[in-house]
Amino acid sequence: MSQRVAVVPGDGIGGEVLAEALKVASAAGAELDTSFFDLGAKRYLASGEVLPDDVLGELRTFDAILLGAVGSPEVPPGVLERGLLLRLRFELDLYVNLRPFHALASVGAGVPVDFAVVRENTEGTYAGEGGFLRKGTAAEVATQGSVNTRFGVERCVRFAFELAEARRRHLTLVHKTNVLTYSGDLWQRTFNEVSGEHPDVETAYHHVDAACIYMVESPGRYDVVVTDNLFGDILTDLAGAVTGGIGRAASANLNPARTGPSLFEPVHGSAPDIAGTGKANPAAAIVSAAMMLDYLGLKDQAARITKAVKDFEPPAPMTTSEFGDAIAERV
Ligand code: IPM
Ligand code: MN
Repeated sequence: MSQRVAVVPGDGIGGEVLAEALKVASAAGAELDTSFFDLGAKRYLASGEVLPDDVLGELRTFDAILLGAVGSPEVPPGVLERGLLLRLRFELDLYVNLRPFHALASVGAGVPVDFAVVRENTEGTYAGEGGFLRKGTAAEVATQGSVNTRFGVERCVRFAFELAEARRRHLTLVHKTNVLTYSGDLWQRTFNEVSGEHPDVETAYHHVDAACIYMVESPGRYDVVVTDNLFGDILTDLAGAVTGGIGRAASANLNPARTGPSLFEPVHGSAPDIAGTGKANPAAAIVSAAMMLDYLGLKDQAARITKAVKDFEPPAPMTTSEFGDAIAERV
């Protein structure tokens, strides 16, 4: 029985990298029933539509969503990010953003680097709380609150402990409890309580600024990291940069309760500066597709793809499709 996958190429290099991801999935033997959705800058500029309700309703009926990238210099910041990507994360209750990182052998300098960041994906500063007062005047006020619910933090922290159980049994909470004494306190207390149910998982706590140093100087110390939405956004770009480049960083926006489809996408953006040049690295999209296959139960195909990308260091610069072909041959 083939799985129904909604494919949203989006903007810039999104379509180019997804084409390689689908090529590799098919080479690995995954039979996917794909439907393409035209969402992103082009549709918005032509029609003013970002994510119509009926399209969202249709997306809900799929087994999974594979997304390329959204964002364009021709569209004001926030329109597509909030209206499309964040709306999907919130509406589909994709409360975990799981981002695994493996360093190429040449990066680890002897210490294997293999960790995963569990980023809370529906709350924090992303929730959209806040507003303007007296906008455009000299007395203007802008607030942007951070929303942290016990429910939202706990379900994310639980996911992270369960993931750590299945890995090397080490979990680090990253926050800024020395300054964010309300939200940080809620996170720390929740973390400590759930930790009591997982006595075999060793825990650590790092302030986010210190975590940035450790991530660069000794990323091998991490197994699973759990953190809030904004810290997770920033930390995972850094993690990508130190483990072989953001072009390799994959992600899964998960609804672990499986009340609807989960969404899989590379961490990188639409890179309009290199769109159409064949320079985009499809590794992140390919591994994101592998995470999707794994989530859909196609464990074998997923494992072969992940391994092929992990082991592959291109001998010379390759175009997007040459990279896709090379991985397709190895799965
Ligand atoms: C990411 C991206 C998004 C985010 C943007 C495009 C809204 O940077 O997935 O990390 O901030 O979450
Ligand atoms: Mn980001």
